[in-house]
Amino acid sequence: MKRIYISPPHMGHDERDLLLDAFDSNWIAPTGPHLEMFERELASRTGVDHAVALSSGTAALHLALLLLGVGQGDEVVTSTLTFAATINAIRYVGGVPVLIDSDRETWTLDPALVAEELEYCARRGKLPRAVIAVDLYGQCSDYDPIVEACSRYEVPVIADASESLGATYREKPSGSQGSMGVFSFNGNKIVTTSGGGMLVSNRKDWIEDARQLSSHARDPAPHYEHSRVGYSYQMSNLLAAVGRGQLRVLDDHVERRRKNNAVYRRALAGLPGIGFMPEAPYGRATFWLTAITLDPAAFGTDRETLRLHLEQNEIESRPVMKPMHLQPVFRECRTRGGSVSVELFDRGLCLPSGSNLKTTDLDRIVEAIGSVERASVPGPCKNPDVA
Ligand SMILES: Cc1ncc(COP(=O)(O)O)c(C=O)c1O
Repeated sequence: MKRIYISPPHMGHDERDLLLDAFDSNWIAPTGPHLEMFERELASRTGVDHAVALSSGTAALHLALLLLGVGQGDEVVTSTLTFAATINAIRYVGGVPVLIDSDRETWTLDPALVAEELEYCARRGKLPRAVIAVDLYGQCSDYDPIVEACSRYEVPVIADASESLGATYREKPSGSQGSMGVFSFNGNKIVTTSGGGMLVSNRKDWIEDARQLSSHARDPAPHYEHSRVGYSYQMSNLLAAVGRGQLRVLDDHVERRRKNNAVYRRALAGLPGIGFMPEAPYGRATFWLTAITLDPAAFGTDRETLRLHLEQNEIESRPVMKPMHLQPVFRECRTRGGSVSVELFDRGLCLPSGSNLKTTDLDRIVEAIGSVERASVPGPCKNPDVA
């Protein structure tokens, strides 16, 4: 049986042609024409003036924090429902993560809790150095109230748009909110270069600074001259060529992922106890990953039983992110709220969502979900999220 993956790469002719062009030009280097064009094209796509291509989204987060001067003992407020990379980057600079729960209606950073946290910090006389708003599974955070609360205290906002390239927030592209935006192009993302990232901002000085830090902080001189500690965070020209090809099909791939989501919603509507990550009214999500929730009492079994059942059918799925405040490594972090993200982790499952899923794959997945053994549950279908 062919295995169905959760979010595999989806390559086409453009990616291949551009990669071969980069190869044939002999720009097999962390510099070259495709890199410059990838940066320009991504900046234009996200409506931001400047961009620097990097080796990963984590590198982009790390540099963003360095640019803001976050250092030893400085607090950084962020989402507990995120991938570990967000929190790791805070730790790289000696920062102290403060973890905030999700809003139930969007699953992203709860703006009211951010405001509460900032008020608390102001009262005790020590503000966080930054807030990282994390866009989840292709859906933007609710930036307006977050940015509004942060600007009251002059705290900069970084948009971790690693998972949301192609989404919009109030008709503006994801990654353009806040002071800086971060994208990831790792192997499971909607635009992949196998590995890679981008830092974007309207501030030219920041992006130039990040560029210099990303290439060993080499000063302008004929010999190797360094006046500060740098990093080896550049992207290869070869990978930038692939990224350019992926950007050309981004709109089409967003539509395909949205269509997958619509198919799941329709096909699973008859099953009791299944909900979906809601699409927030303030934007357009990509549904990079389609995430469902299972109410075990209504559905008749839990999400882990369903995951194992799908696995037996060669279908990859993954629990919704385990909140960072439950992770052994980050358990000590101060956390505001937490029960929403814990419930989403307990009940949530990400289904195969690739832009190259075939109708027959979707049929197989839906059938497998329908065939999991469930206790028979009396009562009406309780499924408020399914239109
Ligand atoms: C929310 C979030 N932040 C950061 C990252 C890190 O990106 P990368 O894997 O490119 O370092 C990822 C994905 O991996 C992510 O999902």
